Amino acid sequence: MTHILVLHGPNLNLLGERQPEIYGYQTLADIDAALVALAATRQAHLRSQQSNHEGVLIDAIHDARAWANGILVNPGAYTHTSYALRDAIAAASLPTVEVHLSNIHAREPFRHTSLLAPVCLGQIVGFGWRSYLLGLQALLDHLSPIA
Ligand code: DQA
Repeated sequence: MTHILVLHGPNLNLLGERQPEIYGYQTLADIDAALVALAATRQAHLRSQQSNHEGVLIDAIHDARAWANGILVNPGAYTHTSYALRDAIAAASLPTVEVHLSNIHAREPFRHTSLLAPVCLGQIVGFGWRSYLLGLQALLDHLSPIA
């Protein structure tokens, strides 16, 4: 069994209501349910957590060192600002995939930089809620290569 921490950053609790033209109409619960369904086909177990607080996200990453094989993270706006989150990912040394609903590279200039990307396995952006599914697939393939 593979164990994955799914971490959702600030404001993602508002998905479904928050700027749906950018982020879509799916709620966080919808996304988590789709991830759990995918995980079930790959003998993976997920623990999902959302927080609007940087320190809570960092604590979750630290805790994951004790039980997780990898991390799937949408860091929200902390992507562009948080050296502390980047350091936590680097310190945890767990393969981490960064996902974004929107294509951050096609939006405002401040969103073009991810401070986390250099310490992540890879980044998937711009596919709406499917970014999460693609990210989980990539992470599970990395952990247990199919071929
Ligand atoms: C986001 C992109 C970020 O720039 C933004 O601050 C978010 C959501 C995304 O999933 O597209 O909160 O991470």
